[in-house]
Amino acid sequence: MYICVCNALTDGDVRSAEAAGAATQGQVFRHYGVKMQCGRCANAMRSTLGGPSALGQAALAGERRHADDAQPTVGHSRRAER
Ligand code: FES
Repeated sequence: MYICVCNALTDGDVRSAEAAGAATQGQVFRHYGVKMQCGRCANAMRSTLGGPSALGQAALAGERRHADDAQPTVGHSRRAER
């Protein structure tokens, strides 16, 4: 997914820059040798920096889904159906 359209930076690019030590939007831009243009990517860049990877987010979503499946049904008895 594109994070910065002006500089064609994807979330993977941002995470790669982060892995190389970038912690701010400016550092991500410096990592790639580009400059801020419109600035509309600031929020997306901030939430991508320091956030879980896409793979990590999918794993978390899967854990939540399994946790929901494990919830006991309340107020339902098989005996009452007979
Ligand atoms: S979208 Fe990043 S500077 Fe425009």
